[in-house]
Amino acid sequence: MSLPTGTVTLLFTDIEGSTRLVRERGSAWPALLAEHHRLLREAFRRYRGAEVGVEGDGFFVAFDDPGCAVAGAVAAQHSLATLEGVRVRIGMHTGAPRLTEIGYVGEDVHRAARIADAGHGGQVLLSETTRDLVPGAPVRDLGEHRLKDLTQPQRLYQLEGEGLEHSFPPLRTLENRPTNLPVQATPLIGRERELAAVVELVQRPEVRLVTLHGPGGCGKTRLALQAAAELVDDFPDGVYVVALESVEDAALVVPTIAQTLGVNETGAHGVEEALRRALGDRRVLLVLDNFEHLLPAAPRLSELLATTDLHLVVTSRAALRLSGEYEWPVPPLSHDDAVALFAGRAEIEITDENAKAVGEICRRLDGLPLAIELAAARSRRLSPDEILERLDERILSQGTGPSDLPSRQQTLRRAIDWSYDLLAAEERVLFARLAVFSGGCSIEAAEEVCDAGLDVLEALLENNLLRREDRPYGDRRVRMLETIREYAGERLEELGERAALRQRHAEWFVEWSSERRRLRREAVILGEWERESDEYENLRSALAWLRNSGEIELELELATALGGYWGISGYLSEGRAWLEDALDRAGDAPPLARAAAMHVCAGLPWRQDDAEASDRWAAAAHEIFVAEGEERGAAEALMTRAIAAEQRGDVEAESRFHDEAEAIFRELGLERPLASILNNRAYAALVLHQWERAERLFAESVEIFRRLGGAWWFPMLNLGLVACVTGRPHDAERAFRDAGRAGVQMAEVETVYYALEGLGSTAASRGDDLEAARFWGASEALRDPAGAKLQAAERELHDRLEAEARGRTGDDAFERSWAIGRSLSYDEAVALV
Ligand SMILES: Nc1ncnc2c1ncn2[C@@H]1O[C@H](COP(=O)(O)OP(=O)(O)OP(=O)(O)O)[C@@H](O)[C@H]1O
Ligand SMILES: [Mg+2]
Repeated sequence: MSLPTGTVTLLFTDIEGSTRLVRERGSAWPALLAEHHRLLREAFRRYRGAEVGVEGDGFFVAFDDPGCAVAGAVAAQHSLATLEGVRVRIGMHTGAPRLTEIGYVGEDVHRAARIADAGHGGQVLLSETTRDLVPGAPVRDLGEHRLKDLTQPQRLYQLEGEGLEHSFPPLRTLENRPTNLPVQATPLIGRERELAAVVELVQRPEVRLVTLHGPGGCGKTRLALQAAAELVDDFPDGVYVVALESVEDAALVVPTIAQTLGVNETGAHGVEEALRRALGDRRVLLVLDNFEHLLPAAPRLSELLATTDLHLVVTSRAALRLSGEYEWPVPPLSHDDAVALFAGRAEIEITDENAKAVGEICRRLDGLPLAIELAAARSRRLSPDEILERLDERILSQGTGPSDLPSRQQTLRRAIDWSYDLLAAEERVLFARLAVFSGGCSIEAAEEVCDAGLDVLEALLENNLLRREDRPYGDRRVRMLETIREYAGERLEELGERAALRQRHAEWFVEWSSERRRLRREAVILGEWERESDEYENLRSALAWLRNSGEIELELELATALGGYWGISGYLSEGRAWLEDALDRAGDAPPLARAAAMHVCAGLPWRQDDAEASDRWAAAAHEIFVAEGEERGAAEALMTRAIAAEQRGDVEAESRFHDEAEAIFRELGLERPLASILNNRAYAALVLHQWERAERLFAESVEIFRRLGGAWWFPMLNLGLVACVTGRPHDAERAFRDAGRAGVQMAEVETVYYALEGLGSTAASRGDDLEAARFWGASEALRDPAGAKLQAAERELHDRLEAEARGRTGDDAFERSWAIGRSLSYDEAVALV
């Protein structure tokens, strides 16, 4: 049968767990596989499917009519039902692939294969396109999913119908995996062989560190990200990318890794130890992207590798030269792929007229993806012939370029030069100025710091010198690839504006973060810290600039504004170092500014189990606030002293500081801080098993927060705890669900896992032991990546209830249920709340 052309429905099949089956069935396997082939062929042929190929134990079949593809899939599952233990996943997608002598090619083919890969044995998945073309087919909408091709999420449908199974575990897609791999704006082109080689290398058990190296813009990052996506099934505990390009200090590599993994520095051990503990012997793959400027940190990686089971893929212009490192040079794109990349980015078809020019451009540019993208970006105004002509001029005028650069690096340099030369004067100025940002910037920052006009910004985006990066919380950001930013930095130097711009940059971020701090003190902000996290490299660089230029007051203001972020992020030691260092030099700064910094500084050490230092800073701040007559500040410092006292176990001091603080707030008529005091005091009562008092104070705290708009879900969780301990599961459940829902709405994972923990305890206290195990498992899965532990009161209750529950169910049943809870995705865990 000949292969259909035009609109084609592409169907892939795959046997679930075939490696295991081969092992289990031994000599019976070949016959079983042959029968599988026969049944599938028969089913697909009946519905006029054309077999494109068989790869291993999977079929690739093309259908002219999408309705036939659906019917064929149903028939296939029906006949497979007779083959015991053999379960097949089927996925399909409709598109317009090109038919060439090597078969179908194009994105749609990959997409169809990815869709099949996302399913489970017995399941049939349809892309949205296919499902729209077969409106009569009974389907269930499974929502949007990210496939391993790293493109935008796709809506997927599960085929329902008689004789088909309908309940399956969550799809094997990226959102059901612990990963932060970013969506790619454009499809990957070529690289099949390279991907297979890198994936195979990383899968080898003895390989812990692979370095993809090569000149700027040769496609290291792109290859590493795609390889990581292919490897998500091999690393069930997570696949994460850590962007290092704007991290300037080698000492910050490990803290940045911790921050990306959501590991908070807790206790006295520092961030390395926290990271080691959180990783333990878990199978995690990290992509460390752009390591070249951080080579002094390489020994740190060796230590991490020696003490954990971590696997690393590093991208870097130069290899790290560590023992045990596998160096993997990234080659240029093959000629055909380079041409396909140019055509794709230029949005042109390759025709007889332009084929020669495009081929020539790609050759001149050595198959370097970044150089090709820069050239292709000009196609809106220039034809391939004109682009080639201008490239040639550039190459001639420059000769061979600085001869100490390796040749592909020279090529890239020329391509950037060329692209820069084509810019209008004001575009050049803005391009250079944008180099002042580290890690990209918001449109607003570009406008304010660099006087960016939106049309000029647009021109840079169009020419690919700048990339758009929209954030989930709605902000629009732009960013330069690192190679391009370096180049822009040189132009900024020539412009002679560097110092002035760094100053403006710093001042702008002082304003920005102070404003954020003011807002946060008045109300709870949605997605509270994500912006700080996105701006962190800018903030660091602003702090460094202010320190080096002796602007102590601004430095103090910025460090103070960042205190809250340092407190909740993985950067406790770093934050404390910035603050303590600034305070050391701040003798002449205005007293109130110093006191504010001291108080913020006091908020960090107690999280490192250093209550002494917290108390010292809080006491110093208090003294200044009192001397300056700043009562609110004084009361807040007393609250911090109370927390430090509680941590030291000094009940008397805790209560005294709270009394003093409370009196001041009442006098000032400030109610919001009272709610926090009530919550803290209630918690102290809880630890002492004073249930009635605890409940009364928590309830008051909830009431005030609700009325004034504050984080009422914290005391609400505690109310649930009291209700649970005092034998009122009904009240407990309500409290945990209310708080949990608020946590979901505010995207506060912490609140969600405490709510799940509480619901587990409630279930256990009712005797629903397996349900309890499931809740606890789900809570643990959310808590683990952050390295968070339960607080004392929760721990105590939990340990008692868990022992009782296990006693009733037996360990096996209990642990099975726990494991199910652990395997839930975030969305499914949320559904439990
Ligand atoms: N195979 C590919 N298909 C499509 N686009 C690609 C491919 N390889 C690279 N690119 C694109 O080319 C540009 C440069 O690639 P990438 O950022 O991966 O290079 P790099 O080697 O990591 O560069 P640097 O040294 O600056 O970090 C990016 O825009 C990337 O998306
Ligand atoms: Mg890179």
